[in-house]
Amino acid sequence: MTDQAVSPAPAPMLDWAFFEGRIVPFNDAKISVGTHVVQYGTGAFAGIRGYLDADGETINIFRLPDHCARLLNSARLLRAELPVTRASLAETIVALVERNAPTGDVYIRPFVYKSNIQLTPRLTGLDDELAIYMLTLGDYLDTHGVKAAVSSWVRAPDHAIPGRGKLSGSYVNAAFAKDEASEKGADEAILLDLHGHVAEGSACNLFIVRDGVLTTSPISGDILEGITRRTVIGFANDAGIPVVEREIDRSELYLAEEAFFCGTGVQVAPIASVDGRPVGEAVPGPVTAQIADIFYTTVRGKNPRYAHLLTPVRRRVAASAD
Ligand SMILES: Cc1ncc(COP(=O)(O)O)c(C=O)c1O
Repeated sequence: MTDQAVSPAPAPMLDWAFFEGRIVPFNDAKISVGTHVVQYGTGAFAGIRGYLDADGETINIFRLPDHCARLLNSARLLRAELPVTRASLAETIVALVERNAPTGDVYIRPFVYKSNIQLTPRLTGLDDELAIYMLTLGDYLDTHGVKAAVSSWVRAPDHAIPGRGKLSGSYVNAAFAKDEASEKGADEAILLDLHGHVAEGSACNLFIVRDGVLTTSPISGDILEGITRRTVIGFANDAGIPVVEREIDRSELYLAEEAFFCGTGVQVAPIASVDGRPVGEAVPGPVTAQIADIFYTTVRGKNPRYAHLLTPVRRRVAASAD
């Protein structure tokens, strides 16, 4: 099959996807409406960014091995059995990026799912499949100042749906919170945990700065174990910025000197207000600006110190035929 034979995928999807063990046109990567994952959310996914390098020719996939490891952990929570290793998953993703030959920033979405048409909500006795697709993606949130609102929807606790896995069904919880935030005129929700402590955004982790200390909720606080979050903690440690993982009270959001969301989608997004209350004196504040600068120079391949966080894929001018 040649590129010419492919009907283009709907924008912003890229033309090629990985499906049922091979690379196929995105429009052919389809499952039935009756599939277990469609009915019950029994899937897990990763969201990975590929950034166009400052050289204009290379796509830098950010923390690819870490995303692969987390996806396999999420799959493990679902008792999914896949003939895939961290290394083979990474290789497949690189092959798909090469095949799509993107000309700008991309978002890569690998997806593990229960593929049977089966009525019982359960985890075992079902088949598991892997699919991967890609789209072009710019900023997901305004990276200059986000309006956040604390949600009345509680973050699903680990003993209901484990949030440390990126499980498809748990995003119904995120959707309720995001929807409520939008209704209030905010850009993003902040979900509290069952005990009233700050958990995270609908699709991102959260940091505040109090008394100069960068502070974020612990990984046992019903949050996704964010890869950007871990990256930010590493940047802060290297830069000598004090950083602590501890429970955060709602009222601390109102007293923080600075606050920002972080995640693959939102990247590093300073928070301008929470529940209509302005955060700090300037947006972004100095700590947020320093972290954002390290992050954005790193992903564009302009920060040799963190080059090891990138998997560079040389962009080819045209994808080759099968
Ligand atoms: C609920 C939730 N929390 C946090 C994050 C941030 O995680 P990461 O930095 O690994 O993308 C995401 C998105 O990816 C998310 O969906």
